[in-house]
Amino acid sequence: MFQTTILARKRRRPEATLSQGHDKVKFRDVILYLVERRMGKSRRNFLSNLARSKGFCVDDSLSDHVTHVVSEGNTAQELWNWLEEHDLKKPHDKHVLNISWFTESMSAGQPVPVEMKHHIPNPAVERRSFPCTSTNPTSSVSPFACKRRTTLDNHNKSFTDVLEVLAENFEFSGNQGPCLAFRRAASVLKSLPATLRRPGDMEHLPCLGEHSKAIIEEIFECGSCSKAEEILNDERYQTLKMFNSVFGVGIKTAENWYCRGLRTFEQVLTEPNVRLNRMQTAGFLFYEDISRPVSRAEANALKVLIEEAVTCVNPSANVYITGGFRRGKDFGHDVDFIIRTPVPGQEDGLLQAVIDRFRSQNILLYSDFQESTFDLKKLPSCRFEAMDHFHKCFLIVKLRREQVLEEKETDEERQRDWRAVRVDLVAPPIERFAYAMLGWTGSTLFERDLRRFARLERGKLLDNHVLYDKATKTFLPAQTEEDIFTHLGLEFIEPSERNA
Ligand code: UTP
Ligand code: MN
Repeated sequence: MFQTTILARKRRRPEATLSQGHDKVKFRDVILYLVERRMGKSRRNFLSNLARSKGFCVDDSLSDHVTHVVSEGNTAQELWNWLEEHDLKKPHDKHVLNISWFTESMSAGQPVPVEMKHHIPNPAVERRSFPCTSTNPTSSVSPFACKRRTTLDNHNKSFTDVLEVLAENFEFSGNQGPCLAFRRAASVLKSLPATLRRPGDMEHLPCLGEHSKAIIEEIFECGSCSKAEEILNDERYQTLKMFNSVFGVGIKTAENWYCRGLRTFEQVLTEPNVRLNRMQTAGFLFYEDISRPVSRAEANALKVLIEEAVTCVNPSANVYITGGFRRGKDFGHDVDFIIRTPVPGQEDGLLQAVIDRFRSQNILLYSDFQESTFDLKKLPSCRFEAMDHFHKCFLIVKLRREQVLEEKETDEERQRDWRAVRVDLVAPPIERFAYAMLGWTGSTLFERDLRRFARLERGKLLDNHVLYDKATKTFLPAQTEEDIFTHLGLEFIEPSERNA
């Protein structure tokens, strides 16, 4: 909320520089720029004055703040060459439109919603992102997430947010198939280097089923999706999402509570027939803190704490951040760490020692230690979605404010000098380190597709412990993540490109 206000404020410019004259600005979120090329100077002046008289902001220069660029009589190629020569900033933030949008808006007396027909897409970006639509009829986008490079720079958020709401709703009703289908569709769109501009852009993309396509078409037409709106307003969805946000409360438990007629945390906590386990009790106790995203600065502070504890026991051990933070995310729901010990066997007892130390430092709020059940003789397992077998622990720790660099104090937080944070630690044996690191880095869909690709395309079984070749019945050794990609005949994908 706060951020949007800042952004909105930033966009606004002093009226004088917009030559607004005495006309009153009615539509502050829209700043027009009319391209003089082909339109001509006098027509541009005339149209600019017309727009201003109707309460529009018109910028005479192609500044950062411009939101709508309007062109008349130029071909897409001509226009985009011209825009590039004139150093168009942040093209993703702007609508580049033909005059039809402008005339419609003038007759409506207000900015009309931008539709596909108004857009003038950049032909160069079109070629780069959708090579299939021009010359090459086969798609260049792989159906496997592990063959796509997906950064955090999502150009199709308006589509992927909706698809993910639908996926989540299917997950809540136990429909794994459609849930995965919508997640896959969203993931493909996240990997594209540009925004979809028209329904035809979907044509050669993989993993977009009939339903996903219909949703995307609806967003193109109406700017929103009625089904997703309905879900977001649905009591069942809202309640399950809220219950599921508690540490230790899975979808099954959330549903069970919902079916008993429970709708609020208070009702759950006062219902005599609900018995919370230890994890859920901690989840409710620290709910406010652990439902707040963890920042990178906080993750780094935790890394220092864990390094201190680990090297106290084993000076040759190393601590690495994994999970979402390793993929470059600025915020996470928890912080995941993997501990590397250089000699086989050194991983034993290490996490217990870390937990004991945190307890003696009075910063341990919750711990669930799981002893290793790793046994190479029992592998490869065919249950790839199952948890791995390494020593690991799920913790809630107290992070003191003073330990976090770049911490900004706000009024509401000042009463307490610490916050609770969810931390996961895993300590695999050294010869399993690469597989574990690859598995814990995620994203979940990237991992899922790595395994699927290994099995279907390479006849190999991959999980957090091993890579097994079915043809030769051998385990393939790996010191690094790169080794695993090489065994699979895949180009290496950097962690920052695994945000599938
Ligand atoms: P997370 O759930 O922490 O996700 O699991 P994340 O990507 O870091 O996202 P945020 O930012 O916390 O919300 C990280 C990875 O660890 C794997 C998961 O499959 C996921 O890819 N994981 C988790 C395991 O491999 N084994 C486990 O026992 C637990
Ligand atoms: Mn995480």
